[in-house]
Amino acid sequence: MKTRTLVLGVCVALLLSCGARSSRLNARRDVHSFSRPDQVQVKFVDLDLEVLFDRKVLKGTATLQFDRWVSAAPLILDARNLRIEKVELAGEDGPWAPGTYTLGAADPILGAPLTIPLTGSAARARVHYSTQPGATALQWLEPAQTAGKQQPFLYTQSQAIHARSWIPLQDTPAVRTRYRATIHTPKNLLAAMSAHNDASGQRNGNYTFFMPAPIPSYLIALAVGDLEFRSLGARTGVYAEKAVIDRAAREFEDTEKMLRAAEGLFGRYRWPRYDLLVLPPSFPYGGMENPCLTFATPTIIAGDKSLVSLVAHELAHSWAGNQVTNATWSDFWLNEGLAVYAELRVVEQVYGPARAGMQAVLGRRKLAQELARLPAPEQILHIDLAGRDPDDGSTDIPYEKGSLFFRQLEEAFGRPAFDDFLKRYFEHFRFTSITTSIFHDFLRKQLLSKKASANVPVDQWLYRPGLPTGAPQPRSEAFAKIDAGAPPGPSWSPQEWLYFLNRLPPRMSPAEMRALDQAHHLTQTGNAEILCQWLTLAIRHNYEAAWPRLEEFLATVGRRYYVKQLFEELVKTPEGKARAAAIYRKARPLYHPITAAAVDALLK
Ligand code: BES
Ligand code: ZN
Repeated sequence: MKTRTLVLGVCVALLLSCGARSSRLNARRDVHSFSRPDQVQVKFVDLDLEVLFDRKVLKGTATLQFDRWVSAAPLILDARNLRIEKVELAGEDGPWAPGTYTLGAADPILGAPLTIPLTGSAARARVHYSTQPGATALQWLEPAQTAGKQQPFLYTQSQAIHARSWIPLQDTPAVRTRYRATIHTPKNLLAAMSAHNDASGQRNGNYTFFMPAPIPSYLIALAVGDLEFRSLGARTGVYAEKAVIDRAAREFEDTEKMLRAAEGLFGRYRWPRYDLLVLPPSFPYGGMENPCLTFATPTIIAGDKSLVSLVAHELAHSWAGNQVTNATWSDFWLNEGLAVYAELRVVEQVYGPARAGMQAVLGRRKLAQELARLPAPEQILHIDLAGRDPDDGSTDIPYEKGSLFFRQLEEAFGRPAFDDFLKRYFEHFRFTSITTSIFHDFLRKQLLSKKASANVPVDQWLYRPGLPTGAPQPRSEAFAKIDAGAPPGPSWSPQEWLYFLNRLPPRMSPAEMRALDQAHHLTQTGNAEILCQWLTLAIRHNYEAAWPRLEEFLATVGRRYYVKQLFEELVKTPEGKARAAAIYRKARPLYHPITAAAVDALLK
């Protein structure tokens, strides 16, 4: 009750103080942050950082501007493995004076609270600090790990709670801040951030950025490398290393079209630009929706645009996730489920219903397989993550069960009504962070109440394991032919191959595997999605001819989803376990800390 009143008080105070809807705080306590934004709330972050490649360290200052709702309360920041040099305090615009701080005991998942007592009229804090070489958000690449092989590369991955390993801040998605950054790099390298980027790409070693919209901390991102820029359209473009930029520009040529399709579906695009950044292959995710600048794995460059639905997905986060954000990691399904649903809508519009249908069926199959594997508490959309690393929550459940829920709403209320609801949802909660229950309230008032006969079991979707009876069953004509036994043909799309491979019988002989491989050259495929599926089968069926390719793949590609799937398959047998250990010894130094942590957990 007490916190309720407090949160309410905060909202009222905020409305009175600045009237900025963007500052509304909708969170209860976030179990993954030490911060107390209900007492002191950071509203602006100003970074000045030097990128020291030789020491693998970022060094400089973070200046935080905040509102104080409880006058005696300290500012509590999240910090993981940061080296704090000193803290200074100032009023709104007065001079800086020395401040004090204490760094609490470190929790293995959360890091440590950095507590800064606030005196008098303090309204800003400046933390002088540096990162440590093992910072979980950072990957420092040697030149050999890049496409160009000449220059080093640095990139960040802040979601879910890694921002605190490179910036001391209130690392909860409930808190939104605008940010500015000045980044100092070696003169010949280019820096890019999740903000306004200067697309002219002038290199001089000093770069400034500004993010005009309030965003959660997990969307602050930085990359530094030997990057080039290529325009793709009026508001879209791509950054990549020189060796990759031509292929990337061709692969992503439909990006502007996707942006226009998404705007038609979800309402105005609220960010200054939509650019892509292609990272080296060790990037731990397929894509990351950093605002204005999606980070992407090079493994989606298949040569035939067959994997660009990932761009549609990250673009969809510009609405679902970045404009309206999960307030805690238990609400992660709101970001991802809606992004997958929205991705399919964009794919349908740009590439046609047949392709979207295939993708929906593939997603539905992945979900069935995940549900068969996960214990009941993990199957719940609004998941309890207390005491756990929120990265553990990124199973297929928030993605595929979440998107199926939105699909059922669409089917029950009809496209026109549901599309209208979505537009109003994105507008109503623009630049705020919301919980599952806030979403549920809005849904009740703005959609469910409009048609009593629709009968969608919302509580069951949100709060119970498994799938409600009557969950949508997407269909694909092309896949129905495969179900009926159609053999692989030369005109098969990568999606048809994925479906075919996914539904092969559970027991196959090495001879059957060899016959398939010889007919269709699967071990040599350039499509990473097909390759990963094929290599999983190769491990399962002891198909030795694919092992050199498996080792090469695991020694270059650090995408966590692939790496985890392959190691998971390997450790199922004692011989496989030994092989996994040998492969990992060589590969581990190439992996981002996030991917390494996932494999460590499997092999320990
Ligand atoms: N936001 C996620 C990536 C993420 C999730 C990072 C959780 C850290 C914690 C991103 O939008 C995403 O979902 N990426 C997917 C690809 C997508 C097409 C499903 C991925 O990386 O595989
Ligand atoms: Zn996503």
